[in-house]
Amino acid sequence: MQSAARWLLNCLLPYSVWSFSHVTEESNALNFVQRKVLPRVAPPPTLSAAQSAPSKPWHTHKYIFVAHHKAGVFLMHDLQSSIFLSLGATASEMGLWIQPCYPGDCLKPEAPIQFWMDLYSYERAQEAREAAGAKGMRVAGIVRDPVSMIVSAYCYHHRGEELGNVMFGNGSLMHLGPKEGLKFAAERMLPLVENMTTAFERPFNDTFHLVYEKVTRSSEDFDQQVGEMTSFLFQDLITPAQRSQVLNATQSADLHRHPAKGDHGNDKECKDEVRKYVPSLPPELLSRYRSFQQRLGYVPVFFYGAARQDRRALAELRRSLGYFGGAAKGEWSGLSDEIKAAIVGLPADCGPAGEVDERCGVACVGAVPWVYNYNLLITAELTQVDPSSKFRRSS
Ligand SMILES: *[C@@H]1O[C@H](CO)[C@@H](O)[C@H](O)[C@H]1NC(C)=O
Ligand SMILES: *[C@@H]1O[C@H](CO)[C@@H](O)[C@H](O)[C@H]1NC(C)=O
Ligand SMILES: *[C@@H]1O[C@H](CO)[C@@H](O)[C@H](O)[C@H]1NC(C)=O
Ligand SMILES: *[C@@H]1O[C@H](CO)[C@@H](O)[C@H](O)[C@H]1NC(C)=O
Repeated sequence: MQSAARWLLNCLLPYSVWSFSHVTEESNALNFVQRKVLPRVAPPPTLSAAQSAPSKPWHTHKYIFVAHHKAGVFLMHDLQSSIFLSLGATASEMGLWIQPCYPGDCLKPEAPIQFWMDLYSYERAQEAREAAGAKGMRVAGIVRDPVSMIVSAYCYHHRGEELGNVMFGNGSLMHLGPKEGLKFAAERMLPLVENMTTAFERPFNDTFHLVYEKVTRSSEDFDQQVGEMTSFLFQDLITPAQRSQVLNATQSADLHRHPAKGDHGNDKECKDEVRKYVPSLPPELLSRYRSFQQRLGYVPVFFYGAARQDRRALAELRRSLGYFGGAAKGEWSGLSDEIKAAIVGLPADCGPAGEVDERCGVACVGAVPWVYNYNLLITAELTQVDPSSKFRRSS
């Protein structure tokens, strides 16, 4: 049986003896991934019996880690393994559910610690919540900008990865150019991204929403996000010593510390190129993805003042976003072509970069000393000197 889920199955069973004897020629593509994956999930040192608490957090709650294709599946899985193995969980306590579920590939549905891939939705969350009953569940789910997910899916499958993945069956994407291929990826991913959106567009008090863009931005962001997630998941169910052990173990999942693990990512060149085709997706399909972005809070965000190391001034930011330049024509309503081009050209501090949805624009966030701003739009037929230059501050 060939399935895209095979590699994940094997990396979820770190204690099982991995035998290459059953590997056949046609599984080479998948096996290539498996061999790279295995060393990444070597169990971290577990606590000695004396250190570990008698009761395990998963005796108290049900734990579910959630990921969707091209939104940090490997990262999330590495995080789950490092966290629970360092707390002393055994393979029999860790279950797996992948959709589509190939015969024999979904494991231990009753296990208290679960990894769910490509299937989580608002309905599934509600069902899991009910099933957990009084114990309560604790979910950690990773969420990424939906448009980045389809761009990344195109680059990834176009270069021939995971040929056995039925969602992108028969290697079709290898033969499609970026325009057709991006549309293909967007159509294939639609139900899954829709489900991810329904599950994470609103906060739930039993669910931690891990932001892909933050956790992959830098090691500091990684540590901060993973630290928050650990506190959320375990609260006082683990000791401070266990917490440091967990946090130390999770560092193995950080791509900035271990760049060699990045073989599931894509080169920036491909992503930048393919992103240019986003606006040429069929309008109905594009508007579905734009709506997912909005519902998940993905608008380009630009920082100024104390929010940035270089303390970029607000006026400077607005100028570089074309705000003043384009205003002459747009009279400060809507997005002029000048503003749109400027937004696309300036890398956002977070949120989608290199694109803008006209309905949402951008958000600018920062802190500066108290300031009065007067935006005076003066329209006049001028024959001589422009009087607005007398009002304009030179800074
Ligand atoms: C999406 O969610 C629905 C409802 O929970 C579920 O039946 C379906 O299998 C899910 N599909 C995907 C691709 O996640
Ligand atoms: C893959 O090939 C099979 C058999 O030719 C076909 O039935 C199926 O629709 C193809 N899948 C895709 C995604 O093209
Ligand atoms: C979440 O909210 C519900 C309903 O308000 C409450 O019963 C439950 O105890 C809360 N759970 C957590 C983990 O705070
Ligand atoms: C931290 O993790 C590394 C490898 O992941 C390990 O070698 C080291 O012993 C750990 N340190 C502590 C204090 O647990």
